Amino acid sequence: MDVFEKLKKAKEKDAKFEQILGSMCTMPHEVARKAYEMFIETNLGDYELFKGTKELEEKAIEWVAKLLHAPSSYAGILTSGGTESNITALWIFKKLSKKKEVIVPKQAHFSFEKASSLLDLKLKVIDCNLYMKAKDIKGKINRDTACVVAIAGNTNFGYIDEIEEIAEICNEENVFLHVDAAFGGFVAPFISKKIFDFRAKISSICIDGHKMGMTCIPCGFLLLREKKWLEEIKVESKCTHTKYQFSLLGTRPGAAAAAVYAIMNYMGIEGYKKMAMRCMDVIWHLAKLLDEKGIEYFEPELNLLAIKVRNAREIAEKLAKLKWYVGVDEENETIRIVAMPHVTKDMINKFVNDLGKVIE
Ligand SMILES: Cc1ncc(COP(=O)(O)O)c(C=O)c1O
Repeated sequence: MDVFEKLKKAKEKDAKFEQILGSMCTMPHEVARKAYEMFIETNLGDYELFKGTKELEEKAIEWVAKLLHAPSSYAGILTSGGTESNITALWIFKKLSKKKEVIVPKQAHFSFEKASSLLDLKLKVIDCNLYMKAKDIKGKINRDTACVVAIAGNTNFGYIDEIEEIAEICNEENVFLHVDAAFGGFVAPFISKKIFDFRAKISSICIDGHKMGMTCIPCGFLLLREKKWLEEIKVESKCTHTKYQFSLLGTRPGAAAAAVYAIMNYMGIEGYKKMAMRCMDVIWHLAKLLDEKGIEYFEPELNLLAIKVRNAREIAEKLAKLKWYVGVDEENETIRIVAMPHVTKDMINKFVNDLGKVIE
């Protein structure tokens, strides 16, 4: 069999985006794909060899810095996504603070568990309801605290923590505040009045291009308030043409920088705004259909809706048999629907119909 026949066969086994309702990833835009292909061989780990690609990376970082109101002292890193960004932020703040405790809300993404294990950090988990409020961290910061993590668009509910108020507390207590906006970063600026970025006194923020940014996997950004903090992770490369690296990864895809640069320029703020509003329209449509069927859910804040069910894992498995793939939160007994750009009202209509049968 021709190798491409084999590839085709393998792809046939994958779920199709017309069936995927619970993922935070989506079909990359044509423009991103084309740019990715053009730069497929480039390596940002050896950026001195790929000066043009490096410029695209810097321009893409600049675009995100502007979106998130970064001060002129900022620095940014293009990462492989939220996990790498979160690990890198905690790596930097551990080194700067020389402390080993990190405060995270209960809803924090599991990438912080990876960070804790890798960096030997102790996670102090705040038992907050649905999202973290300022009062939840009062009295929790102590002299071992390296950093507080807040979320703009948590993974299971899409809720935004009280970041402005939490930032005030962190500032008073003199601890770093990292904001995980991996999911919300490309939606909240366009549909929410909440301040979660550098307009609040935050130290760093991450945002993913391969989620609502419509670009190819892998693509995330980590932005730091102070460029000098990057020195903490500076490593001399003893083998490449490039002398220093400032990233967790070594070899890094320049194609990711080209793709995200291209799609940002193509979409522009207005394009992303339109897309975010369309996704919200789909999520409100879902809420309306659930209301009609008397199915309970958590009121959505972003384009993510958590449906209350009795046995989330079992329901998700039954739905998978009908070729609907949803997110599962066993702790809260919810199934998660994310209205990513590929999700249409038509898909939602058919899904709710099937959901009704499954939970009967
Ligand atoms: C809030 C949040 N942070 C971080 C991540 C991790 O992102 P990635 O899977 O791109 O590493 C996710 C993924 O869903 C997320 O929802």
